[in-house]
Order: sequence, then C-alpha cells, then structure tokens
Amino acid sequence: MGKPKVVLGVSGGIAAYKACELLRRLTESGHDVRVVPTAASLNFVGEATWAALSGNPASTQVWETVHEVPHVRIGQGADLVVVAPATADMLAKAAHGLADDLLTNTLLTARCPVVFAPAMHTEMWEHPATQENVATLRRRGAVVIEPAVGRLTGKDTGKGRLPDPEEIFEVCRQVLRRGVAEADLTGRHVVISAGGTREPLDPVRFLGNRSSGKQGYALARTAVARGARVTLIAANTALADPAGVDVVRVGTAVQLREAVLKAASDADVVVMAAAVADFRPAEYAGGKIKKKDGEDPAPVALVRNPDVLAEISADRAREGQVIVGFAAETDHVLDNGRAKLRRKGCDLLVVNEVGETRTFGSEENEAIILASDGSEIPVPYGPKEALAEAIWDQVTQRYTPRRA
Ligand code: CTP
Repeated sequence: MGKPKVVLGVSGGIAAYKACELLRRLTESGHDVRVVPTAASLNFVGEATWAALSGNPASTQVWETVHEVPHVRIGQGADLVVVAPATADMLAKAAHGLADDLLTNTLLTARCPVVFAPAMHTEMWEHPATQENVATLRRRGAVVIEPAVGRLTGKDTGKGRLPDPEEIFEVCRQVLRRGVAEADLTGRHVVISAGGTREPLDPVRFLGNRSSGKQGYALARTAVARGARVTLIAANTALADPAGVDVVRVGTAVQLREAVLKAASDADVVVMAAAVADFRPAEYAGGKIKKKDGEDPAPVALVRNPDVLAEISADRAREGQVIVGFAAETDHVLDNGRAKLRRKGCDLLVVNEVGETRTFGSEENEAIILASDGSEIPVPYGPKEALAEAIWDQVTQRYTPRRA
C-alpha cells in the first residue's frame, strides 16, 4: 500500500505560514502531500516553499501539465483534502461549487473526506454569509473546524485564529483513520468532561486523583473529526487545547457540575470522562495548615460531592439526549460496572480496569461498553482514540432522529 495521499489547499490569509508546519507534520508522518495554493495565498508563502517542503509540484491553476488533467486527477486520487487556512472567500466558493482555479476544481472532484480550517477576522467569520456557507459545507459532510479565539492580524483579538497546526494535524489524522467521507456527528453538540477534580484543603494542598484527561481529550478530538460542536469541561489537565473545541476550565467537583449543567442544557450527548472526587474537605482553611510540635494532625473531615452523572441522567436537559459515563474499577470490574450503570441511570457506561500504572496517564486503554439495553461491547486494548471512536459508534446508534 502506498502512502496516504493528502491534498493541502492553502487560501490567501496571513495564517498561510502556519500551513508550512502542518505540511511538515503530514510529510514526516508518512503522507504524500500535494499542496494546492490559491494565487492570492502566494502573496504570503511562495510556490518554491510548498514544492520544496512537499517534494511535489505546487501549482495554483489548471493550465500547467494539462495532459495529466490535474484539475480532475488530484481530487480523484486524494484520501483527504484539507484546506488550511480557509478564507471567507474560499468557503464561499466551496459552498457554491465555483471552480475557477486548481484548488476549487479539486474540491469538486474529491470524493474523500474534506476538512476546512477557517481563519479570518471575527466579523467575517460571524457574518451570516460565511455562517451559511459553513452550514452548507457541513451539511454536505465536510468537517469545518471552529476557529480558535485569540490574537488576530494586527492588534485585534477574537474568534477567527487558525488553530495550532499540530492540532489541525490531529484532526486530519483522525479523519484519515476513520476514512469515511461523511462526518456523522455534524449538527450535534457534544459535551465532554475530562481530567480529575481537585478539592482544596488549604491554599497549597488538595485532594486529587491520577486522571490525566487523555481519554476525554481523545473523545473531543475524534468528535471534532466527526463534525460535532464540542464543549470540553477540563478539570486540571495539562494538555493542549484540541482544534475546534470550546474548552471550559474547572477545578473542583462543584465547579465541574456547574459547567456541565450549563453546557448540557442544549447538548445532544454528554460524556462524563472526568474523574470526579466523591468527597471534599468539609472545611477549607484560608491559610496554610501548620503542623504543631508534639501533636498529631487533626483528621480531615469530608463531605459528599454531588454526583453529576446521576443528576444529569435523572433530569435530562433535552429529550433524546444520550448520556455516557465511565467507571474506573480495580476489581469485580464487570459486576461493579453493571450495578453502576443501573445506579447512575445513564445510557452507556464505559468500564475499564484501573490501577496505579494501568490506564491513568497512558496512551492506551481497554474497556467494555455497557448499554442500558443490555448489550455489552468489548473494545480491545488499543489507543484511547480507538475507544473514543467505539463510544461514538454506540452513541450515534442511540440518537433521536437528526434535527433538521
Ligand atoms: N461521577 C460524577 N460525579 C461524581 C462521581 C463520579 O459525575 N461525584 C461520574 C464520573 O465522571 C464517571 C462515573 O460517574 O463517569 C463513575 O465514576 P466512578 O468514580 O467510577 O464512580 P463512583 O460514583 O465514584 O462510584 P464508586 O464510588 O462506587 O466507585
């Protein structure tokens, strides 16, 4: 099998320079990349850069090597087309099927998955014309990554930044791995909690747990690659924000509850991947707790935290909302998991075995997905992304019909 063929479309925005890094990641990870820039984008990065970095010719128009029929062949042969940055003009052309240069022709002939990573000023992104074009492209199955919020060209800040090339690369990797042209979470709002809560004892100490957040982040990345709008409630994680994801940072279980309830109000799916502390110190010492010579430390009194998963399962914010929980068990894994599924009242429970060195912080996971209809789906040991995909496969089977 040859290398996967990727077309990197580059349209005319200042973020074109970031596409060099995306190209480098794609080629270094074994992809055969053909860069198709627009003429306007060459004002930012020249043809020579693209040709040298990709090892392939980089032309903007259909009138070169005509005997190879490039306007048809490049799109037909691609396993993935990614346009980064995608300007407002490029989104408009793609949505309307214009074909006035090599990139727009390629977009019309491609039958593989297509990813757009828009970058533009906030006003242009928010304009109804752009938003309608984005909605059209998504409806047709393309993945359009939500721009990041931050510094734009000049002194402006706002929504419209191109996400980090590394994170766009992650979306490409997920889309390629799935290899399906249609993004099946399109139009869905997915809420994921990730990481582990910390319950403060005093300004310098807390009760915490070993959760790294990697499984929750894998769920977020794969959901974006399947077209979802994703809100990630991140509790004390030290991981890069995934592209296209709205990240809400929280510390304690009570803060996590608040953030989840707010985001869940219009969510189609809620996945509680976070390790939420069941207890918190009954009292918080405003100053550092000091040891006293000759005295044993006072025991730490604990109180119960709210059970967020049980609460949102019992009181669904929307009809047909699919709710997924996780169960980390050290023994009697299946029996405990089945009992927990009933107790929590969620639709799916992902049960995995944990220990000091198992699962926490690792890149791999093994689990059984228990469903409230009695089915039990084993997911073999593998990357956390594979488990994430298996979860989304189960979720999409349990949807209410897609909203118009
Ligand atoms: N969870 C939650 N709120 C809590 C505790 C857990 O929402 N206060 C969620 C977790 O996000 C996870 C699921 O419940 O999706 C199961 O977490 P786990 O710690 O395994 O379950 P516990 O409720 O702590 O059950 P037990 O004490 O019996 O292990």
